[in-house]
Amino acid sequence: MRRRLAQLLILLVVLVVLAATTVVWLNRRGEAPLPDRQTAFVATPQMVERGRYLALAGNCAGCHTARGGAAYAGGVGIDTPFGTVYAGNLTPDPRHGIGQWSAAEFWRAMHNGRSRDGRLLYPAFPYPSFTQVTREDADAIYAWLRTLPPAAVPNAPHRLRFPYDTQAALAVWRALSFSPGSFVSDTARTAEWNRGAYLVNGLGHCIACHGTRDALGATETRLGLAGGSIAIEQWYAPSLTSKREASVADWPRRDVIALLQTGTAPGGSVMGPMADVVFRSTQHLNAEDLAAMATYLQQLPDSAPPAGNRMPQRRDPGEMDRGARIYDQRCAYCHGDRGEGRPGAYPPLAGSRAVGMDMPGNLVQAVRRGGFLPTTAGNPRPFGMPPFGHVLDDTEIAAVLTYVRGSWGNDAPPVTAADMLRR
Ligand code: HEC
Ligand code: HEC
Ligand code: HEC
Repeated sequence: MRRRLAQLLILLVVLVVLAATTVVWLNRRGEAPLPDRQTAFVATPQMVERGRYLALAGNCAGCHTARGGAAYAGGVGIDTPFGTVYAGNLTPDPRHGIGQWSAAEFWRAMHNGRSRDGRLLYPAFPYPSFTQVTREDADAIYAWLRTLPPAAVPNAPHRLRFPYDTQAALAVWRALSFSPGSFVSDTARTAEWNRGAYLVNGLGHCIACHGTRDALGATETRLGLAGGSIAIEQWYAPSLTSKREASVADWPRRDVIALLQTGTAPGGSVMGPMADVVFRSTQHLNAEDLAAMATYLQQLPDSAPPAGNRMPQRRDPGEMDRGARIYDQRCAYCHGDRGEGRPGAYPPLAGSRAVGMDMPGNLVQAVRRGGFLPTTAGNPRPFGMPPFGHVLDDTEIAAVLTYVRGSWGNDAPPVTAADMLRR
């Protein structure tokens, strides 16, 4: 009996050691050993300028510059279902920033998600996308970051729940969900399409919000840009591969470019976290890169389930009347008596895809918090929508949205009290 127990114990220990070795091995996949001696890194002015541009394409500032804080000095907390992860200081400060990092160490962080001291990094830093960025582009970003004024701002410690705060949990997660990759161009496609794919899936990290996440919080690359709930104030990033959500396959190409460049287009306008993406990142991209991204986005495969005959929605007439009264009083002077909007100023609500999406969460956010289109060179004085969270209570917001979703040809499900709580 005792011998059996001892044997079992040994077997268990062997299994644990084996599993641990596998996890460690999986975490080292694709990692080149760091060079023993630092080779001098020579940055040309062209390289620095290119790095500045690429950092905009990757929206590094979106996470690494805190509101009111020094540029790239870190401090922004990224909320995840597992806790908050803080983006660090990327200025060349030798103690708190990346002043002592070599180009190879910077590359390893971008490509393999490993910090200078060997620590594994949390994927709130979108290295599962950045792993596709070329060494040349990573070096350019590194060169540019090193020209920033150093800021002696210490990194904030992450606030994660046990066991997610352990390197062991992160190592297991990475073994299951992350493998370093590089961008492989599809020779059957044009150079422009490939450039677009590289930007969207690499630096642009669109999948970080528009991807579906599995139970472990990893984006499911298999499903591509099929939409997902994100942990930013309960916004939902719609599917870029579904015509019922945010696919732009049927848009004129210039409209797709306009959306990325100015935040507004005849078929839609950006809100919430997407307004931030346009404001900080895509509006700064050059014409060729925007055209390339548009080409790629327009050719994404259509993933929408065939639009079966949806039963006409049932709406409570009393609720519709209540909604209509609120609409006429609070909304019509901007969005028009029949939801027609005003071109260049207020988006139409009649026939709007965003209004008709099954999930009403983004609309609730828009009405509660209001919103501004991003200020961009192409739309320098955008119109705003005031927040109604303090004027309308939940039942009134539900009523007005039920009315908007059920009028002027719109036929989307009513907004219920449960929808209002789900946030
Ligand atoms: C969506 C938010 C987000 C974006 C966008 C982002 N980062 Fe980060 N980054 C983070 C977070 C969070 C961490 C901390 C991860 C950790 O400590 O585990 C981090 C860590 C890093 C690190 C490692 C720092 C260290 O001390 O180990 C580097 C290097 C880095 N980011 C570079 C970049 C660059 C370059 C870009 C733009 C191309 C960028 N990041 C864009 C969130 C982001
Ligand atoms: C920080 C999260 C986040 C990132 C990163 C992000 N998006 Fe979005 N996106 C959203 C959300 C939320 C919405 C829904 C709100 C809206 O309609 O603007 C959205 C909406 C959109 C829409 C539909 C706009 C409309 O009005 O129909 C498009 C197209 C889009 N995103 C493209 C992109 C592309 C391309 C990228 C990568 C360059 C990207 N997004 C990156 C969160 C994000
Ligand atoms: C002062 C003018 C103004 C008023 C009043 C106003 N809105 Fe808006 N609304 C806007 C602007 C501007 C936008 C675009 C904002 C953005 O994209 O961030 C917008 C966006 C929206 C959107 C998102 C549409 C889309 O296609 O992305 C919805 C839904 C909406 N408003 C509903 C309402 C409702 C319901 C009311 C009344 C309770 C209302 N609005 C009152 C100006 C207004």
